[in-house]
Amino acid sequence: MSVKDILEGKLTGKEVELKGWLVTKRSSGGVQFLMIRDGTGTIQSTIHKDEVNEKIFQETDKLTQESSLALKGIVKVDKRAPGGYEIRVNDLQIVQLAVQDYPLSKKAHGIDFLMDWRHLWIRSPRQIAILKIRAEVVKACRDFLDEQGFTLTDSPIFTPSSVEGVATLFETPYFGDKAFLTQSGQLYVEATMAAFGKVYCFGPTFRAEKSKTPRHLTEFWMVEPEMAFFTFEDNLRLQEEMLTYIVKKTLEKRSKEFEVLKRDTKPLKKVEPPFDRISYTEAIGMLQKDGFSIEWGEDLGLPHEKAISLKFEKPVFVHRYPARTRAFYMQPDPEDPKVALCADLMAPEGYGEIIGGSERIYDLKLLEQRIEEFGLPKKAYEWYLALRKFGSVPHSGFGLGIERTVTWICKLKHIRETIPFPRTTTRIYP
Ligand code: 4AD
Ligand code: MG
Repeated sequence: MSVKDILEGKLTGKEVELKGWLVTKRSSGGVQFLMIRDGTGTIQSTIHKDEVNEKIFQETDKLTQESSLALKGIVKVDKRAPGGYEIRVNDLQIVQLAVQDYPLSKKAHGIDFLMDWRHLWIRSPRQIAILKIRAEVVKACRDFLDEQGFTLTDSPIFTPSSVEGVATLFETPYFGDKAFLTQSGQLYVEATMAAFGKVYCFGPTFRAEKSKTPRHLTEFWMVEPEMAFFTFEDNLRLQEEMLTYIVKKTLEKRSKEFEVLKRDTKPLKKVEPPFDRISYTEAIGMLQKDGFSIEWGEDLGLPHEKAISLKFEKPVFVHRYPARTRAFYMQPDPEDPKVALCADLMAPEGYGEIIGGSERIYDLKLLEQRIEEFGLPKKAYEWYLALRKFGSVPHSGFGLGIERTVTWICKLKHIRETIPFPRTTTRIYP
């Protein structure tokens, strides 16, 4: 039996057994009011002195915040109780009496303190709401791709080489040799794609990003679809459909959590295809007009992405970045080889990039040339080059960052709350 079932009115008048944790306690005139959390919700339970035996009433008096307990009682409608229902307790067992002084009492705490106590902080209503939304976003990604005929093929975490540039690689000893923690599963889904047609991987990825910003983690989760025979435009269309599905499902299933977060969902309801598309060159023009001192060829930083994002109500694609600033595997635009057939999807409301994608080089000679130009060790990429020797086809794919997406959907100021245990340049505890 769960709090959710009770609050949905399914158990009114019935005797229930509930197991959970004590959130708050107060007493008034021979009645103890306990707020109990069980993972599906929180409910008021009352213990009336004249309805339970003396021992239970005394034990309840000792209960401390976050004590775990099991109780039995009758579900009653009570308009005064949060949620409209309460359990009138007739039996209660303490599973563990929590030690005194729960560190996260009601008063406001600084962020470093909360992060030090992250293992307990995740029990708070706001954190529960964010992580529930995260779980819904992950489920929506998987459901969407599974329904579209994609096959999940997971990529390895230990890898011999870089995907997104050597500057942000984590190195680790590997039996007398060295290995790197993967920055992206892309190269491996390019391989499985030739076996299954449409594939995706979903897993943790690692970047030794020095940047200490509200949108960078050193460990984050990415979903990476890869599609055989997809053109650049096919790729953008799939991203629009997938993101629209994610937002719709999350709104549908997690309205209560959005209320907890006080997230105005109106802007999310506007998300539907088609999204606007502007080229990198156009973006630079817009930024210069706005007074940014940025030249063609420079990378867009958060302030730039934010400025662009705020010009549009829906997510917007910025496409065709300068090829030499982007990853080695990106297909040059046949109409202008200075730029690559790539796009970043900017989330609205000032959030900026949440997806990076591109068409991939499928010609062996060109790929070899790019690996050389980027100064990458050819030997480590032999297997990847072989994919261009045996049935190479035009193909495209993208990577959607789960935490960036959740940051925007929940409208948070910082990415650290979107993952149970965030890893940043300055934090690896708890
Ligand atoms: O744009 P990125 O670097 O693209 C790739 O890794 C491609 N190989 C993906 C592909 O085509 N299969 O990263 C993709 C997304 C970004 O748009 C962003 O959402 C997220 O991953 N991301 C990060 N999220 C949190 N912290 C970081 N340090 C991130 N770096 C990238
Ligand atoms: Mg990117």
